[in-house]
Amino acid sequence: MEIPLIDFDEAVKKLTNTSYPHQNFYIAMYSSWLGGITLNPNLMLIPIDDHMVHRGDGVFEVFKCINGNIYQLDAHFKRLKNSLNKLQLTPPYPLEKIKQIVIKTVKVSGQKNCVIRLYISRGPGDFSPKPEKSIGPQLYVVITKLVPLEERKRTIGCSLKISRVPSKGPFFAAIKSCNYLQNVLMELECTQLGVDYVVNTTEQGKIGEGPTENFALITKDKRFLTPSFDHILKGTTILRAIHFAKEMVKVGLLKGVTSCNLYVEDFKKAEEILVFGTTIDVLPITTFEGNLVGNGKPGKFYKLFFEKFIEDQTKNKEVLTPVL
Ligand SMILES: Cc1ncc(COP(=O)(O)O)c(C=O)c1O
Repeated sequence: MEIPLIDFDEAVKKLTNTSYPHQNFYIAMYSSWLGGITLNPNLMLIPIDDHMVHRGDGVFEVFKCINGNIYQLDAHFKRLKNSLNKLQLTPPYPLEKIKQIVIKTVKVSGQKNCVIRLYISRGPGDFSPKPEKSIGPQLYVVITKLVPLEERKRTIGCSLKISRVPSKGPFFAAIKSCNYLQNVLMELECTQLGVDYVVNTTEQGKIGEGPTENFALITKDKRFLTPSFDHILKGTTILRAIHFAKEMVKVGLLKGVTSCNLYVEDFKKAEEILVFGTTIDVLPITTFEGNLVGNGKPGKFYKLFFEKFIEDQTKNKEVLTPVL
């Protein structure tokens, strides 16, 4: 077999001539490795010896910009700080400077509505798992277009089944690390089972989380229940929903808000099941394990929570960071 030896010019030619449809969604990337922002998707690359590539040694956050305002930037940075601390990973710049880089990269992208993907890696150097072999941590911020959600997920609702993929355990579940194999296997499971979402459970049967989502339920007696956060990632969206739910208690729409151990039976008895995440905000689950949830239609509380998110993202200066 003949394998060509590629020189520098040929490599650059090959790289600049490569194109595939997904790249239409990649708008801008800040790379500390390149020392700036590129708008060319072919240059949105990471060195193979970055420990984030060969060991998953890095952390990430995904957040969005709506009508020129980044939603819940501080909440995402709070979780980022927590992930960094747990991995004993010092970012290449102070977090305040990283925030400014994020804002600048969105600005340069020219997008008012987009997804922001932020990665802090252990950095390049050596192929061992040893963090001390890296020459220094790196920052990558990628701006991609918002992919529109399938309308039927809001109008008809989504399906949910229990996952067979083992959960991560309390320590690793709390880190938004670039080591997401369980989550990947859960996505695969969704496709194989033909459902929109799966939710994992602990060895004790406690309901956990989805591949990149959190779940909550509304009981028949109007209580908002979420799984306790000791074995799942603290989603910025569900935390916001808890805030909204507390407001609903004050006006008498809900009777209570609790984070507690929830089991499959609790989900089976629910009046409504809701799924939360940054890109979806909130969606209704209308079938669980093949059975209808409530009357099988998106419920009243789904609509109330969705309205709250829309209002938050259009009007609430406390959770919006303007880019321009
Ligand atoms: C494992 C996991 N759980 C829950 C979530 C939801 O978090 P957020 O609401 O901040 O998007 C995510 C987000 O990506 C996730 O990766």
